[in-house]
Amino acid sequence: MSELFSPLTIRSIQFKNRIAVSPMCQYSSEDGFANDWHLVHLGSRAVGGAALVMTEATAVSPEGRISPDDLGIWKDEHLPFLKRITTFLEAHGAVPGMQLAHAGRKASHVRPWEGGKMIPPDAERGWQTVAPSPVPFIPTETIPLELTAEGIEKVIADFVAAAARALEAGFKVIELHAAHGYLLHEFLSPLSNQRTDQYGGSFENRIRFLLELLERVQTVWPPELPLFVRISATDWTEGGWTPDDAVALARVLKAKGVDLIDCSSGGNVAGAKIPIGPGYQVPFAERVKKESGILTGAVGLITTAEQANGIIASGQADLVLLARELLRDPYFPLHAAQQLEAETAWPSQYLRAK
Ligand SMILES: Cc1cc2nc3c(=O)[nH]c(=O)nc-3n(C[C@H](O)[C@H](O)[C@H](O)COP(=O)(O)O)c2cc1C
Repeated sequence: MSELFSPLTIRSIQFKNRIAVSPMCQYSSEDGFANDWHLVHLGSRAVGGAALVMTEATAVSPEGRISPDDLGIWKDEHLPFLKRITTFLEAHGAVPGMQLAHAGRKASHVRPWEGGKMIPPDAERGWQTVAPSPVPFIPTETIPLELTAEGIEKVIADFVAAAARALEAGFKVIELHAAHGYLLHEFLSPLSNQRTDQYGGSFENRIRFLLELLERVQTVWPPELPLFVRISATDWTEGGWTPDDAVALARVLKAKGVDLIDCSSGGNVAGAKIPIGPGYQVPFAERVKKESGILTGAVGLITTAEQANGIIASGQADLVLLARELLRDPYFPLHAAQQLEAETAWPSQYLRAK
């Protein structure tokens, strides 16, 4: 039997294999609404055999969007179409997951394929960004507003409302996005968090916002459903967040009931030197798993069936999350099963091609 195609049970949810669709912004929404694009994009990957299909970073508030075109879940009107998507994903054997996000100082940008530049707050479609400290990501960008105690409470309330809505929409997994230099990561890293109150300074203070937010989200997210956190395991920069910090955080999150740490890296420092190569972030998933005992997800340049299977078989991670390879080939899991001579269900409509 191939380990990649062995099932995984977390709380009440069984994943049919270890392949997840990594969250991928589509920048294709109007006013946060999901539409036909999202149904077809996410639906194809369920048909393609992924066990977990995760939405893109889904904004918990309009000001938490990376771009004005991001998917959102800040109002009840967003739910009917999302429900249609979760129903389709489940009907095709995939567990629907939603990544909940606030972009912090990296909000208010145009879509990457339109140049990806920041939209100033006074320009059409732009808004004022917020962050732990008034430190822009790039010196030439708008200075974010430092979140006040009320601002922090609003963000937490937005995440709680979003998690409750995700549940109502039929999602069975939520992932808190605490990676890639977005708001939650900005609090974790001493490079972006220069606060002098209880949310800044020591490691315990910098993780406080994430922990408070998590505890509040857990009041609405049921204990029978999995809760993941995506982190950047390192800032790849001297003086920043480190793999040691990632392990220490993972131990705390495990004790607080988080089920899986999705181990990414970087994104908080423009121009950080990252040694990119096949599976370059897998060692983070391995270390966090071994040293904290929590389940981990490995992500980053995982592109072949053998490589993905090796990560699971060698116990480096419990799940592999694929992004770009699943854009190239939505049927990667079906193809991987053939290559590994593993059994996996094909959609009945496609059986004649098996
Ligand atoms: C088009 C695109 C959009 C992305 N959007 C998100 C996102 O919304 N949230 C997130 O955590 N990561 C996002 N990422 C990062 C991926 O989830 C993944 O971590 C990264 O691409 C490395 O995996 P890969 O080598 O399999 O592509 C995105 C990546 C791509 C290519």
